[in-house]
Amino acid sequence: MKNKAILQIDEQKYPLPIITGSEGEKGIDISKLRSQTGYVTLDPGFANTGSSTSNITFIDGDKGILKYRGYDIEDLAANSRFVEVAYLLIWGELPTTEQLRAFSEMLTDNALIHENLKNHFEGFPWNAHPMAMLSAMINALSCYHPELVDPENRKEELKAAARLMSKIRTIAAFSYKMSLGEPFIYPDPNRRYVANLLHMMFSVPHQRYECVPEIAKALDKIMMLHADHEQNCSTSTVRMVASAGSNLFSSISAGVCALWGNLHGGANMGVISMLKQIHEGGMDIKKCIEMAKDKNSEFRLMGFGHRVYKNYDPRAKILKEQADKVFSILKHNDPLLDIARNLEEAALKDSYFQDRKLYPNVDFYSGLIMRAVGIPTDMFTVLFAIGRLPGWIAHWREVNDDPNGRISRPRQIYTGQTQRKYIPIEQR
Ligand code: CMC
Repeated sequence: MKNKAILQIDEQKYPLPIITGSEGEKGIDISKLRSQTGYVTLDPGFANTGSSTSNITFIDGDKGILKYRGYDIEDLAANSRFVEVAYLLIWGELPTTEQLRAFSEMLTDNALIHENLKNHFEGFPWNAHPMAMLSAMINALSCYHPELVDPENRKEELKAAARLMSKIRTIAAFSYKMSLGEPFIYPDPNRRYVANLLHMMFSVPHQRYECVPEIAKALDKIMMLHADHEQNCSTSTVRMVASAGSNLFSSISAGVCALWGNLHGGANMGVISMLKQIHEGGMDIKKCIEMAKDKNSEFRLMGFGHRVYKNYDPRAKILKEQADKVFSILKHNDPLLDIARNLEEAALKDSYFQDRKLYPNVDFYSGLIMRAVGIPTDMFTVLFAIGRLPGWIAHWREVNDDPNGRISRPRQIYTGQTQRKYIPIEQR
């Protein structure tokens, strides 16, 4: 039978349609499986499950290919800026000069946050994690823009996207200032996206932070390279929340929480703490590799391995070059960079990592660049979130635009207690 997979359960055969993506990826459509057979599939971690079709991002993990809307990530990184790529992801096409200018203006016009929203920061303790504040403040933002969360009001989406992209940056910088106990620095309309973020983070009332253009470029690349990565944990979270009909702000707030986890966006912080641990403990690289391989040890090589890439993560390649550039511009001598390089070299030669196809991922070098720029470790994942926002918005729109969309509601195989007789509390 052409274009069908055959599933046999006992004597009964069930033809299942095969669907082919535009890049030739093949999937077996099991959407009618339960109604036809009474069975569900079991796939912990969804490693073999396509939750939807999507036309935003393509990854070939075996070949190390990443494309946004059909454009190679290498081309975009060499020629575009984060804001331009954000537009591409959200609206599907690279902007014309006029469209980019209009979008950039919207970003500038929406950079301030409502003064009352600013007061919410005072409710957090000074040592609150910026990811907790970011998630809470994004959700709170919806209260200040009720017109943008009306599901019938889709024509306001461009404004909502620009608002969110601009304000997330202000919220991020304010949460950093809060942790320092320093006054908030308002956005500067004359600075570009990344330079403005650095200004709000590092300027103080008596001294404006002057950004080295090459540093802003490197951070712009970090954001662009993080901008989307198809159905990763946080994006799947955004899509799942969106599928319930939740508004853009609440869906993205949930995505921020998912990103916070140390196996996901939090890994960039994990890389630095691992490198510090090695440095401060004077640990031997060989020993670290052995520990990472030892299943009885808690130690994992952070910044290594990926669910999808079974080849060098193309984003890590670009960031490795950027790390070299930034370190030479800043004349920065960070012993952690040498440790990272040695660790990478040793792991790539080791059969454990070779056999499992474990390569450096995007987080391996991004943290070192941010650290060189003076961004504190706690803020790394926040910068990842700012970068990932356009992807989340694009996926939220895709879910809402899908005429066949259904609420996400996975099944399970129940393995708990079967029928039990209720025991009154005094008899337990
Ligand atoms: N160090 C040592 N062993 C590893 C590592 C690692 N970093 N990553 C995977 N392995 C081993 C793992 O123990 C398993 O071995 P075995 O087959 O003997 O049981 C095998 O490789 C397959 O790993 P897995 O855990 O089944 O892979 P996964 O797809 O479930 O997890 C991952 C992917 C990224 C969570 C994992 O590789 C990991 O924990 N890496 C470190 C954390 C990290 O860098 N995360 C950032 C991911 S990239 C940014 C993002 O998308 O958020």
